[in-house]
Formats: sequence, structure tokens, C-alpha cells
Amino acid sequence: MKPIYSVKTLNDDTEQRFFESKSGIFQHYPSLKQSHPDRVEQFILSRMALLDCLSQIGIKTDIARLQTNQDFQLQEYPQVKVSLSHTEKYGAAALSQTSKAIGIDIEYANRTVKPDIQKKITHKDDVHEHTLLEVWCLKEAGFKTFSFARGLRGMEQITIRDNQLHFENHSCSYELGRSGELYVCTTWI
Ligand SMILES: CC(C)(COP(=O)(O)OP(=O)(O)OC[C@H]1O[C@@H](n2cnc3c(N)ncnc32)[C@H](O)[C@@H]1OP(=O)(O)O)[C@@H](O)C(=O)NCCC(=O)NCCS
Repeated sequence: MKPIYSVKTLNDDTEQRFFESKSGIFQHYPSLKQSHPDRVEQFILSRMALLDCLSQIGIKTDIARLQTNQDFQLQEYPQVKVSLSHTEKYGAAALSQTSKAIGIDIEYANRTVKPDIQKKITHKDDVHEHTLLEVWCLKEAGFKTFSFARGLRGMEQITIRDNQLHFENHSCSYELGRSGELYVCTTWI
């Protein structure tokens, strides 16, 4: 079953929650102290999106309890699979209670992808009708989904065919949609 997802940006609805989270963030995530303010903002927005997803399945928690392990999964809630993504002004999260692995990627829909990126993200066996930007978005999300497969090093190892993503003997489904000015891709096994 496809994951649920949430996308957050700073607006009238999120501002108060954002500043509440920001006030205690370094206490709970000390490594962020070294980070650029934009990175801190994206970190918080993506965790606010994750809190939204968790609340949709009845888990009420707070940002301090979203510590992740080396597989980018929540230490405190091992019963769910999660994935995060951020861009300049947005943070996004996906969550599944049934999948083996999931991914999410967000990209500005008007972003230009330089043609020389093509060889870094395409595979000779790709069969699809997506634009280069869509392929980028699909394979970034796919990369996160397949990251349990230890041999994965780059997006060019992932193929798109039959409306699925493939790496070695693993395959995942995907959904590519729009949220305002963004492409949102979720992937799941
Ligand atoms: C891992 C990768 C997919 C992350 O994508 P990104 O666009 O840099 O970042 P996003 O904002 O979409 O996602 C970042 C989040 O993904 C998660 N993440 C990072 N690496 C991950 C991995 N290997 N597996 C699963 N999730 C991962 C983290 O939760 C991170 O958020 P956090 O740091 O706030 O916890 C990307 O950096 C990458 O390494 N791609 C593959 C290498 C490649 O082919 N590069 C070619 C580029 S031309």
C-alpha cells in the first residue's frame, strides 16, 4: 500500500509550531548547532511533516522523539517506515505501516536539471516517458527505498521500467504527483 505523506512550509498555519520546535531543537539535536540556518529550517519542517504523518495514524509525539538510526528510521517507533526530504523552503515526510521500505523526494517543478546530470541518473535499460527532472525525483526517492541493499551507490544503478523502479532483484512502486510548486514522489516496496 502506498505511503501517506505530508509537506510543510512556513506559513500562517505552521509558524507558531515552527518557532516552538526551533526553541529547543539544539538541545535534542546538538549536531545541528554546526548547521546553516537553512538546514535547521528544513530539518524542522521535515520533522513537522513527519509529526503530521504520525498523528494521522494516531501517534501523538513531539520533535524531540524523532531521533533516527543509521537506516534513517525512527528509533522510538520501529513499527513504521519513514522517509524524509527537503528543498529550499519545504520539508516533507512519508510514512507506511505496511511497507518493507519507502522513499520520498520533493523537487521544485520548475527546476532545471543540467543535461550533463543525465548520465549520472540514467540506466541503459530505462523505459519510460518521464522528463529528466521527473526521473531525478523518482530515482532520489527510489535510492532511499533501496538503500537497505548495501550495493547501491548511485541513482544510475536504478532502472525504470513497467512503471516500477528496480535495483538488482528488488522492485518498488512509485507515485509522482504535485503539491503546489513541487513534484512529490513516493516509492514503496
Ligand atoms: C541520499 C540522497 C538520495 C538524499 O537526497 P537529497 O536530495 O540530498 O536530500 P533530501 O532532502 O531529498 O533527503 C534528505 C533526507 O534523506 C534521508 N536520507 C539520507 N540518506 C539516505 C539514504 N541513504 N537512505 C535513505 N534515506 C536517506 C535523511 O533522512 C535526510 O534527511 P535528514 O538529513 O534531515 O535526516 C542523495 O544525496 C544521494 O546520495 N543520491 C545518490 C547518489 C547519486 O546518485 N548521486 C548523483 C547525483 S548527480
